[in-house]
Amino acid sequence: MRILIIGASGFIGHYLLRRLRHKSDHEVTKTYNSRTPGDIDQSWHRLEITDYQRLDQVFLQARPDVVVLLAAIADVGTAERDPARATEVNVDGAAQVARLCTQYHARLVFLSSEYVFSGDRGNYQEDDAPKPNTHYGRTKWQAELAVAREASQWSIVRTSVVYGWPLFGRRNLAAMIIDRLKNNETYIGDTNTYRTPIYVEHLTEGIMRLVADYHPGICHLAGADWMNMYQFACAVAEVFELDSSLVTPVQALAGVPPKTDSLEELEQDFKQDMLGLDCTQTSHRTGIRAFGVVAGLQEMLA
Ligand SMILES: NC(=O)c1ccc[n+]([C@@H]2O[C@H](COP(=O)([O-])OP(=O)(O)OC[C@H]3O[C@@H](n4cnc5c(N)ncnc54)[C@H](OP(=O)(O)O)[C@@H]3O)[C@@H](O)[C@H]2O)c1
Repeated sequence: MRILIIGASGFIGHYLLRRLRHKSDHEVTKTYNSRTPGDIDQSWHRLEITDYQRLDQVFLQARPDVVVLLAAIADVGTAERDPARATEVNVDGAAQVARLCTQYHARLVFLSSEYVFSGDRGNYQEDDAPKPNTHYGRTKWQAELAVAREASQWSIVRTSVVYGWPLFGRRNLAAMIIDRLKNNETYIGDTNTYRTPIYVEHLTEGIMRLVADYHPGICHLAGADWMNMYQFACAVAEVFELDSSLVTPVQALAGVPPKTDSLEELEQDFKQDMLGLDCTQTSHRTGIRAFGVVAGLQEMLA
């Protein structure tokens, strides 16, 4: 099988490539943009996704059976600061990749996010209606629509917070918590922010299953535990045997003087950021299991 991974130089791409390294029956073509990979060879192509001529050349050389699209402005803050660029990369780039997939009769596996949902209650299912309230979330939702419209064969993978040992220079929640606690520094765990964290190896295992077998439509690949960031930090401390008393629970807006004494408006101010994905439908459909946080952290430790 010929596989093209667009955005292979990122965090998830790095782990996906490690899984593919020992599969001699696959011919893998991969792209990077700003960071030249350490193991650069002819299978790597430099690609700016908004350069459609270059994108065309990459498809022509790769002639893929399956395309995994990871490339994106994946940071919520960066997308908010430059929304036009985020739309160009995340939406227009994805739409063009989807068109080329149809042209080359390739199947598309597209990485999306829980941020397509509003954050009002969490544990969203595959068929819940998206209602993003960040620009990043809007780009992912618009990209999903473009993929469904333009690609003839597609799977959309929505995931939650992904943790694991990071690549050099990249942020990663679990590793950041471990660093702080090891240095005897406190970690402030937000009790308002809920997610379903997934270990990167579990995510890439699921992606590989979707590469091998076609499961059309929207798939939720996330962890089995819905928890807030304070609880996640406590789990990290426990598994890595670090001092959990350094983990301090805090509401995101605690310490900010209230602007009003109206109960309704105060509740609005402390509105919880409840994302996280329910993977039940995907598990039934694909057989891909969702693992709990302790299992993921123990694998990370090992
Ligand atoms: N990590 C998470 O917690 C998480 C959660 C939900 C969804 N996702 C989604 O999963 C996908 C991969 O995430 P990640 O964590 O691996 O992100 P990442 O580490 O930031 O990697 C992003 C990848 O996209 C490439 N890229 C960025 N801008 C590009 C452009 N203009 N043209 C071509 N390539 C470009 C980067 O190349 P260079 O680094 O070489 O520039 C890199 O290979 C993204 O679509 C993200 O939205 C991630």
